[in-house]
Amino acid sequence: MPSTLRVASSAMLLALATAPVSVVADESVLGIYVFHRHGDRTTKSWPPTMLTALGADQVYASGNYFRERYVAANASSRISAVATDIAVLAQIAVTAPVDNVLQSSANVFTQSLYPPAGTAAQQTLANGTVTESPFSGYQYIPVNIVSSAASASGSEDSEWLQGGSGCNNAIISSNNYFSSSSYLETLNSTKDFYASLLPVINTTFTSAQDTFKNAYTIYDYVHVSEIHNATIPSSDLLTNDTLFQLQTRADQHEWGLAYNSSDPVRAISGAVLAGQILQSLNTTARAVPTAKSTARLNFQFGAYGTFMSFFGLANLTAANPEFYGIVDYASAIVFELVTNATLGDKAVDPSDISVRFLFSNGSAGVNGGLTAYPLFGQSEVTLPWNTFTSEMNKFAISNTISWCNACGNTTGVCDPSALGTGSGSSSGNASTTSSNNGGGGVSRAVAGVIGALVTLAVILGLEALVMLIGGLRVVKKNVAVAGKAASSSA
Ligand SMILES: *[C@@H]1O[C@H](CO)[C@@H](O)[C@H](O)[C@H]1NC(C)=O
Ligand SMILES: *[C@@H]1O[C@H](CO)[C@@H](O)[C@H](O)[C@H]1NC(C)=O
Ligand SMILES: *[C@@H]1O[C@H](CO)[C@@H](O)[C@H](O)[C@H]1NC(C)=O
Ligand SMILES: *[C@@H]1O[C@H](CO)[C@@H](O)[C@H](O)[C@H]1NC(C)=O
Ligand SMILES: *[C@@H]1O[C@H](CO)[C@@H](O)[C@H](O)[C@H]1NC(C)=O
Ligand SMILES: *[C@@H]1O[C@H](CO)[C@@H](O)[C@H](O)[C@H]1NC(C)=O
Ligand SMILES: *[C@@H]1O[C@H](CO)[C@@H](O)[C@H](O)[C@H]1NC(C)=O
Ligand SMILES: *[C@@H]1O[C@H](CO)[C@@H](O)[C@H](O)[C@H]1NC(C)=O
Ligand SMILES: *[C@@H]1O[C@H](CO)[C@@H](O)[C@H](O)[C@H]1NC(C)=O
Ligand SMILES: *[C@@H]1O[C@H](CO)[C@@H](O)[C@H](O)[C@H]1NC(C)=O
Ligand SMILES: *[C@@H]1O[C@H](CO)[C@@H](O)[C@H](O)[C@H]1NC(C)=O
Ligand SMILES: *[C@@H]1O[C@H](CO)[C@@H](O)[C@H](O)[C@H]1NC(C)=O
Repeated sequence: MPSTLRVASSAMLLALATAPVSVVADESVLGIYVFHRHGDRTTKSWPPTMLTALGADQVYASGNYFRERYVAANASSRISAVATDIAVLAQIAVTAPVDNVLQSSANVFTQSLYPPAGTAAQQTLANGTVTESPFSGYQYIPVNIVSSAASASGSEDSEWLQGGSGCNNAIISSNNYFSSSSYLETLNSTKDFYASLLPVINTTFTSAQDTFKNAYTIYDYVHVSEIHNATIPSSDLLTNDTLFQLQTRADQHEWGLAYNSSDPVRAISGAVLAGQILQSLNTTARAVPTAKSTARLNFQFGAYGTFMSFFGLANLTAANPEFYGIVDYASAIVFELVTNATLGDKAVDPSDISVRFLFSNGSAGVNGGLTAYPLFGQSEVTLPWNTFTSEMNKFAISNTISWCNACGNTTGVCDPSALGTGSGSSSGNASTTSSNNGGGGVSRAVAGVIGALVTLAVILGLEALVMLIGGLRVVKKNVAVAGKAASSSA
């Protein structure tokens, strides 16, 4: 067709039009769901926690990695319907709980996902004046408040994993960890180890607090100090072996709170995350692959505890025992929706769609990128969509009724009248009803729980804001340590 080659732009259009043909043999990514940890931050022992400059750099590098992998014109696994340089908000969903560190991380991430576009983002007014937004055409991508109970308010200010979940049975279950033989034996056997480190931490922890009970907060305090403090009291005590032991004890402690194979409700945050992943990817899978107004880039920022709960539920520890460990700052798990089908103007047949799970321990932009791992104790890293959904649905919680049943909550949003389930209908055994009931209308239902939690979170957030604006220093009395975990172990 020589006529279409008359002008350069037509040639480019032709090239674009024929591009899908040349990738028939290749794989296309239809969309991604990413769960992301925040970057380096200050210690939990002195709330409010804050993202550090180092942390911002880590998250920025990660955002740039995702840009170079999925978004940029020359991206290696480019999602073809997604805008390359000027962000189209309908294609991007970024969420984070009301939390200094996670909200900031999400904001920084968007800055490198779609960097300032300079002259390309200029706009011309009616009177002919050309305008450009500040910072060389900075792009404003909203970070929405997280829409779930998975990682509710102030996660990073809270030392205790289930602090924000609001899920009654999960709180009880996690507290049960403190009476398990595994916990009690470790508490006893590590007494001397922790006592020997008291000179390092005695400005912040009392000797009574200096035990395995506070394994995470002690690790966090020392870990943050190792990164940021040029001098640490009695630092000669902190040998590599000691640091390793501090970290692995923290891993053990947090895993114990996050997951128990015989008590699935403990992993409620992972189950809710699974529900969100399913809903998001389902929407992307059903959309016409060339549609330009579908959310294909989904990013949620959340706490390490949610990673652990999900790793347990998805049996990733079978793929690699390293999944028992707390993920590093700015880590990300990614679910790629992929297909080998030719992308046309009809939705891809679900039987031609697969899902691949990938992980970066630490910032993908710093540590060399993503690695694929098999989910659910299987051997394949690329799972057919139907296998993926049926495995995820074994533990995913995608609606309010399932959540209320699993959590054993019966008041507030879980009040039968609020749920429209009539009185006294749902008092079933929590852990046996933890899966998605199937059927539609899930997102509306979940919005109920979400709404309630968000309201609470917003109130707390405003309080913090008022204190900041008022110039008051927010120093919580229960700082570090013992506080929450101890007082909430019923
Ligand atoms: C993609 O393009 C950008 C800017 O145009 C360039 O900096 C980058 O090196 C390119 N990446 C690859 C993998 O070619
Ligand atoms: C055009 O409109 C903008 C915004 O109202 C104004 O700031 C600018 O001065 C105008 N330019 C001219 C040449 O009138
Ligand atoms: C669930 O029940 C617990 C304990 O009664 C309560 O603290 C929590 O706020 C409830 N969660 C919701 C979302 O209503
Ligand atoms: C796991 O749950 C079971 C059943 O509730 C309980 O017996 C066991 O102590 C729990 N283990 C831990 C480490 O919490
Ligand atoms: C605690 O550990 C000591 C030795 O480290 C042991 O003698 C003692 O029996 C342990 N106590 C319990 C309750 O496990
Ligand atoms: C902490 O321990 C060091 C070394 O044992 C001691 O000199 C110091 O007085 C202790 N500080 C506090 C606040 O207890
Ligand atoms: C590190 O410095 C911070 C801020 O000055 C301080 O609060 C913290 O206690 C120090 N860490 C140690 C182990 O001394
Ligand atoms: C301790 O670990 C650091 C970082 O991994 C390493 O550079 C250093 O050589 C190690 N020190 C010893 C004594 O093994
Ligand atoms: C998405 O979810 C709906 C409602 O649960 C279901 O009918 C549909 O088959 C799902 N789509 C795919 C591609 O699995
Ligand atoms: C990530 O790195 C940390 C060490 O910083 C380790 O404890 C953890 O097991 C690693 N996780 C995975 C899945 O590699
Ligand atoms: C696409 O085809 C390649 C080569 O046959 C294969 O390795 C890959 O797993 C396929 N991807 C999907 C999503 O089926
Ligand atoms: C995890 O996967 C392994 C390997 O397939 C399997 O042996 C094990 O039973 C699975 N664990 C759970 C809890 O499903």
